[in-house]
Amino acid sequence: MPGMPRFLYRLLLCLCALALLSGCVRATMAWTKLAPNGDAARPQLLESFEGTPPVETAEEWRTRRALALREALQREVYGFLPDASETRVLSHDVINSSAFGGRAVLEEYRIAVTATFNGVAVESRGADEAMGVVMNVALPVRTNGPAPVILMETFCPRWMTLPDPAVAGSPEEIDEGSGIMTYIFGRYICTPPVEDILDAGYAIAAIYPGELVPDDKKEGPPQLRRLSAGYEDDETRWGAVAAWGWAFSRMVDVLDGDRRIDPNGIVAWGHSRYAKAALLAAVFDDRIDAVIAHQSGTGGASLNRDKPGESVKAITRTYPHWFAKAYANYAGREEEMSIDQHALLALIAPRPVLLGNARRDVWSDPNGAFRAGQGADPVYDLLGSEGLEQDRLDEWKPEADLAFWIRPGTHGVVEEDWPAFLEFLNAHFGGGADETAAN
Ligand code: GCU
Repeated sequence: MPGMPRFLYRLLLCLCALALLSGCVRATMAWTKLAPNGDAARPQLLESFEGTPPVETAEEWRTRRALALREALQREVYGFLPDASETRVLSHDVINSSAFGGRAVLEEYRIAVTATFNGVAVESRGADEAMGVVMNVALPVRTNGPAPVILMETFCPRWMTLPDPAVAGSPEEIDEGSGIMTYIFGRYICTPPVEDILDAGYAIAAIYPGELVPDDKKEGPPQLRRLSAGYEDDETRWGAVAAWGWAFSRMVDVLDGDRRIDPNGIVAWGHSRYAKAALLAAVFDDRIDAVIAHQSGTGGASLNRDKPGESVKAITRTYPHWFAKAYANYAGREEEMSIDQHALLALIAPRPVLLGNARRDVWSDPNGAFRAGQGADPVYDLLGSEGLEQDRLDEWKPEADLAFWIRPGTHGVVEEDWPAFLEFLNAHFGGGADETAAN
């Protein structure tokens, strides 16, 4: 604003945003307890469930209990995913053969996705049918072999996730770090440290989920309904989180079989609402080898029962398009749910999951996410993994299959988050960087 000092302008922007983001305002007022907050009354995952006997073997888990829990999560929280899916590549181009200071080849795919519910197949090119759903992929040049890939869904347009003017829709000049989002939600909220990630040997694939299903309570539902035309029950019709989770799998469809990508190194990464989606994606797609779910909160890793922070009532009121309508019916009577969010983590076991958190992000309920990790732990054990290897929220063990990261501060993706994410990835996938070539 002309005439207004820069600091005053920023302060004003900051105040406006805080007022708008009431959830996050509340997040700054309290601190999460660093020891687990009692033993929550979450259902025991290996005990009797819906009249079936307890589970004692890995085989019983896979063939019986996992199916029932997946069904319950869809019925009570997310809505049902398609019975079958398909992805068609409409175009595939190299858009910059020497991107990010010569570190990567940058490519662009346009895809059409098909969801089949009850035999009715609907193909969509996304919210903007003319364009198709766009996926950008940065492939590191200096690697020893096929690179593990980090699949990302982010809040900001694709050209901010992978900033390059060649990305479809990008303005000539990309503002990477001075916007209000970055100011409030941290340096990496829009743009991850792409060069560091590439140097560590990881490829990045990014979509903007709003290009498939808009994050809007008016515009989202028509697209969700269109894609699920064969599905009749409105109570359990899928919400946007399920569709965004499904979108991670459509990215895998495209990259699976690409010889430049490590088929055992496919990682779904998401922050907050997209962290909810990343977790759900891995529950339904075992081609996803690991998840980094940062501040996934309610409807993500945090338990619905005994909840400080965002309640089921609050989330389903403010974001009615995110979940099945059925989830809202449990507001205030969460103890009647047959499952809780620890089932989400258990259904990813024994694959590595990193739960990222911040001490003052009580809105996302880090303590509830930790207790969900504890609840999922017996399933990791059953499947031959140590799972959670910490007793408190602040005992960071990046090599654990259920790793819990907490830092000071609030909701966002800040400077110390990505080094932690990379530590976790390196502990599990070793990166693919060719050190000799890099020097
Ligand atoms: C809101 C919402 C959270 C969500 C977050 C985000 O704060 O209440 O559930 O995780 O937005 O996506 O940033």
